[in-house]
Amino acid sequence: TVYRASTTAPVNIAVVKYWGKRDPKLNLPTNSSLSVTLSQADLRTLTTASCSASYPSSDGDSLLLNGEPSDVAGARTQACFRELRSRRAALEAANPSLPKLSAMPLRLVSENNFPTAAGLASSAAGFAAFVRAIANLYELPASPSELSLIARQGSGSACRSLFGGYVAWRMGDKADGSDSMADQVAEASHWPEMRALILVVSAAKKGVSSTSGMQQTVATSGLFQERITKVVPQNMDLMEKAIKEKDFAAFAEVTMRDSNSFHATCADTYPPIFYMNDVSRAAIRAVETINANVGRTVAAYTFDAGPNAVIYYLEQDTEAVVGTFYHVLGEIDGWKQASLKGLKPSMS
Ligand code: DP6
Repeated sequence: TVYRASTTAPVNIAVVKYWGKRDPKLNLPTNSSLSVTLSQADLRTLTTASCSASYPSSDGDSLLLNGEPSDVAGARTQACFRELRSRRAALEAANPSLPKLSAMPLRLVSENNFPTAAGLASSAAGFAAFVRAIANLYELPASPSELSLIARQGSGSACRSLFGGYVAWRMGDKADGSDSMADQVAEASHWPEMRALILVVSAAKKGVSSTSGMQQTVATSGLFQERITKVVPQNMDLMEKAIKEKDFAAFAEVTMRDSNSFHATCADTYPPIFYMNDVSRAAIRAVETINANVGRTVAAYTFDAGPNAVIYYLEQDTEAVVGTFYHVLGEIDGWKQASLKGLKPSMS
């Protein structure tokens, strides 16, 4: 018998950024963060997990990512396997009639419908799908928040992809990380007009990975202390309020300020880390121009650990925002017009 389960997980894009670990081993953050989960129609990871007593035990656990064998020996992946297996083993111990899946090698087959490691939060969707596929296979009675505790150990931002809509990752303060997990701030249906436009400036693999970049920032940036003690706590409060009140101007200002603050701490890292490039900066100016021309805030930019821009706007302002982007950025070399899409928040 081959036991099998499949799932998909969406991408999320933070509007208050996670940047910094207080415990790299357990993957515990130095600050809380908040994101919007995007629709799976365009950006998602599809993962199938299977196990069988007939899989040779010498193979061990394996992962095929976009058709290529991928390394599963890393501590983060191993932590996810271990957490999920031990929960399954506890179920089997309590109910001896269950098949002993926890003793079988696991095979994972995973596919992204977007470029991996291009700064498009692929690790978030990847680990969220990985954890949920195995949890489904093992029939674990785990809530999305419990699964988020496990996915966090794979990649921090992955804990937010277990919920749809507007999602907070609460940093927690326990040393064992048992209170560092995600919860839903609001359903996608609370503010369904939200849209995200992704400007793929470059689909190349990013220069400094977020994992090592944030470690360098924690170790060397003075500005970072100001960010984690003052800027982010205030942005979290303002952002939750903006979402609850569906106040786009407030949502947009916090989103842009938080992105700027995050990239300022990157520039304050020694040696400095630059994720944005000239095309990224042109996108920022385009957002400023659009907002000035319309006479109110209709667009907000944010950038992760790469040059690609994500522009948040409301459906009713599609013409002003998307139309102008085509116009302003269409001629800039290095900008891939084909990758421009209006994504909705995810319902799942
Ligand atoms: C800039 O979740 O990729 O996208 O926990 O080391 O895997 P690891 O880091 P990762 O970092 C994401 C950083 C960010 C901001 C965010 O998504 O909140």
